[in-house]
Amino acid sequence: MAEEIRFFELNTGAKIPSVGLGTYAVDEAGIEQAIKVGYRHIDCASIYGNQKEIGNVLKKMIDGGMVKREELFITSKLWCNDHLPEDVPTALDKTLQDLQIDYVDLYLVHWPVSLKKDSPKPKPGSFTKPDIPSTWKAMEALYHSGRARAIGVSNFSSKKLEDLLKVALVVPAVNQVECHPLWQQRHLLGLCKSKGVHLSGYSPLGSQVKGDTRQKVLQNPIVTHVAEKLGKSPAQVVLRWGLQMGHSVLPKSSNEARQQENLDVFDWSIPENLFEKFSEIPQEKLVRGADFVDKTCGFYKTLEELWDDEV
Ligand code: A2P
Repeated sequence: MAEEIRFFELNTGAKIPSVGLGTYAVDEAGIEQAIKVGYRHIDCASIYGNQKEIGNVLKKMIDGGMVKREELFITSKLWCNDHLPEDVPTALDKTLQDLQIDYVDLYLVHWPVSLKKDSPKPKPGSFTKPDIPSTWKAMEALYHSGRARAIGVSNFSSKKLEDLLKVALVVPAVNQVECHPLWQQRHLLGLCKSKGVHLSGYSPLGSQVKGDTRQKVLQNPIVTHVAEKLGKSPAQVVLRWGLQMGHSVLPKSSNEARQQENLDVFDWSIPENLFEKFSEIPQEKLVRGADFVDKTCGFYKTLEELWDDEV
């Protein structure tokens, strides 16, 4: 009997559902459908621009008795132009208001990149020097206030996470990063496990909406071989691989059948002889973050500086 792996335990003691719904570019109907098919972990961000719509769905479904607030795990993220300590609580308040809830289960610093207050779009001239320790102090205050039941980061390299751990009084509960068989993050995952930080994988199917690179992952010969052997879809195999590696996965889909397919990863497993084949897959980072570097006036002048050579 396969180990189900429905949850992982965070360093706060809370349980994070192992499969969550990524909500970038997912509309109101897609969110409602996802909760109806059984998603309990909803991964939001203020920059996605759809938190008000998600809030309407949450209110409707909680008030209508479809789901209880405490059964849901809601994540949101602090955008890069809200990194000043005085802006951090205001940004969370706006998110809570939009989502129509009074706490988030997890609040993440979205990128280790700071933007000027009046310049929310990363572009030349809009970057400022990040001061992650002071942003983190403000995040810690949100944690102590109870409005963020766990705090963490996103898009942090091993080096940036280690730098943060040197000053953090509250150890980040999560680092949410790109993670799939083509970009397995083995070094970062090892570091996270040793420090009690849970790794959550975004774009687990290898795709961002803009510049769809899904086929590179879903048509990888090892992935399709394992899928054929197990009688599962490539997407299911990729998601189950993530759970067996020990990280949660945040697939995005607006399609009901694919939402269901992506949740159907608990009552079977990838046997060891097939699981170990994934370590042979050549590594290629698909989410470059090119918008966050600027070689003339950015704080990070190259991708190597942004990712500390983990590119
Ligand atoms: P759709 O919304 O039409 O289902 P990622 O989560 O890696 O960012 O990938 C998201 C993309 O993958 C979306 O374009 C989504 O399209 C598609 N997708 C989601 N689930 C599956 C699946 N089970 N099989 C194939 N494509 C999928």
